[in-house]
Amino acid sequence: MPDAGTEWWKSSVVYQIYPSSFNDSDGDGIGDLPGIIDKLDYLHLLGVDVVWLSPVYPSPWDDNGYDISDYTDIDPRFGTLQDWDRLRDGLHERGMRLVMDLVVNHTSDRHPWFTASRAGDPDKEDFYFWRPGRGDGPPNNWGAVFSGPAWTRDDERDEYYLHLFSPSQPDLNWENPNVRAAVHEVARWWLDRGADGFRMDVINFISKNPKLPDGPMIGDHGLFAEHAINGPRLHEFLHEMYQAVFAGRDVLTVGEMPGVSVEQARVHTTPANRELSMVFQFEHVDLDHGPGGKFDPRPLDLVALKASLGRWQTGLGDRGWNSLYFNNHDQPRSVSRYGDDGRYRVESAKALATTLHMMHGTPYVYQGEELGMTNAHMDDIADYRDLETLNHHRLMVATGRIDARTAMAGIARMSRDNARTPMQWDASPQAGFTTGTPWIGVNDNHTEINAEAAVADPDSIFHHYRRLIELRKEHPVIVHGRYAPLLEEDPRVFAYTRTFDGRTLLVLANWSGEEAPLELSEDLVGPDPRMLIGNHPEPDRVLAPLRPWEARVHLFGPE
Ligand code: NOJ
Repeated sequence: MPDAGTEWWKSSVVYQIYPSSFNDSDGDGIGDLPGIIDKLDYLHLLGVDVVWLSPVYPSPWDDNGYDISDYTDIDPRFGTLQDWDRLRDGLHERGMRLVMDLVVNHTSDRHPWFTASRAGDPDKEDFYFWRPGRGDGPPNNWGAVFSGPAWTRDDERDEYYLHLFSPSQPDLNWENPNVRAAVHEVARWWLDRGADGFRMDVINFISKNPKLPDGPMIGDHGLFAEHAINGPRLHEFLHEMYQAVFAGRDVLTVGEMPGVSVEQARVHTTPANRELSMVFQFEHVDLDHGPGGKFDPRPLDLVALKASLGRWQTGLGDRGWNSLYFNNHDQPRSVSRYGDDGRYRVESAKALATTLHMMHGTPYVYQGEELGMTNAHMDDIADYRDLETLNHHRLMVATGRIDARTAMAGIARMSRDNARTPMQWDASPQAGFTTGTPWIGVNDNHTEINAEAAVADPDSIFHHYRRLIELRKEHPVIVHGRYAPLLEEDPRVFAYTRTFDGRTLLVLANWSGEEAPLELSEDLVGPDPRMLIGNHPEPDRVLAPLRPWEARVHLFGPE
């Protein structure tokens, strides 16, 4: 086998499971591994190739499992390592793969490495960033992603430690070769046990400017962004990890990289550089953040979204590889954010999916997206569980920087909890997710939006996704085709072509609730046109105006 592997992930579709909200088998209100195992046939029916499991490791649960206290075990709330083995086998038997979430920019402050480091254990002393304060304050002016300063003073060690997220998530010091070796060991441990790869949490944060200098005030997290991410040793650390862990193994690696540029991503994902299969970039999902950050959203500018995604399509078109996503556990539901979760919920969910899945790259489906699950529409802060949301609310409202009503409006639109309400399996109380009390409320609309109803309805969003996934297997142009944008200035229509091996795919999507004429030349219509998929009845000609939220895909060229 060549070192770079077979690149099976290029023709794959990945399904992300957020375990606490997927399926609860024991009635404690929290999803678990046996619950996932019970739903493997559902995933198989959808046709996805890979499951990415958000963290299931032992954790104090300050940031819903992204604060890990033991990298090589399963948190009892989710089950046991034996359950994990059964999940692995169940997926493999059905021809699916299992990708784990590797969260190694930081650990939990209850991880034994941190406990030893704080106590000054010579072995672990430099596993984290410890610095004396500057005057009465922290060592520099960096702010944390989850509000407040990025440094917390520790009385035991009598120093400050760095945490780019919450104080309970101290950053590991990757400058220390022993840290890197320890991380490599963890990763090898899971691959040896049968995992098929990793999603690597905020992996571009692992290299920081070694001087840890003050940063300018810019953007959402400007206080640290300039010096704390994409640091000088990032490529070296990733390449070293590739050599130590991934070389010779046929795995998928996707590095989550807020603030990564197209040019940087191309270097990270060019196979010859031996770093990562692909990265998650953030440019497109940050476009609707307003001057006050993500909780101050502004309407989506479709022209800007097309320009952004188009640059990534072209920029990683012949070197490197794209990941494709609108949803994950950190983003509000796309049908509410970009689509219309009222009158055109079904049409708009299908239109968004079609736009994304026909692009060049590996599509990711976040649990419930295939049902058109919507934002939670919770207007009471007591119903929220997410640390980032609660911190933001506390800071903004308590300090009077924003009035409570405005703060709640931003939270209702953008909170991560929108994605974290329980998976809607059926119309029964608690949506079939649990027999107990769910850790976060079930969306009332489960009586209408649920998997049971969607599987039974051949016109459902679920079956549209199933067909999109199937098409990827049938048409190499979807995997390999060259991307070319169309109608770049049109404020409503998202259109492009993909071309490969004499065939052209024409993707047309109306991102609005009004009819949209297509100002395109008939020359674009190639020989033997056939419509591969659509969310309205087939029109009598390829370039017929698009009906509200209509999306359709035409293929030209030899059968
Ligand atoms: C990114 C993860 O996706 C998010 O959920 C988490 O809070 C942060 N990284 C910190 O680990």
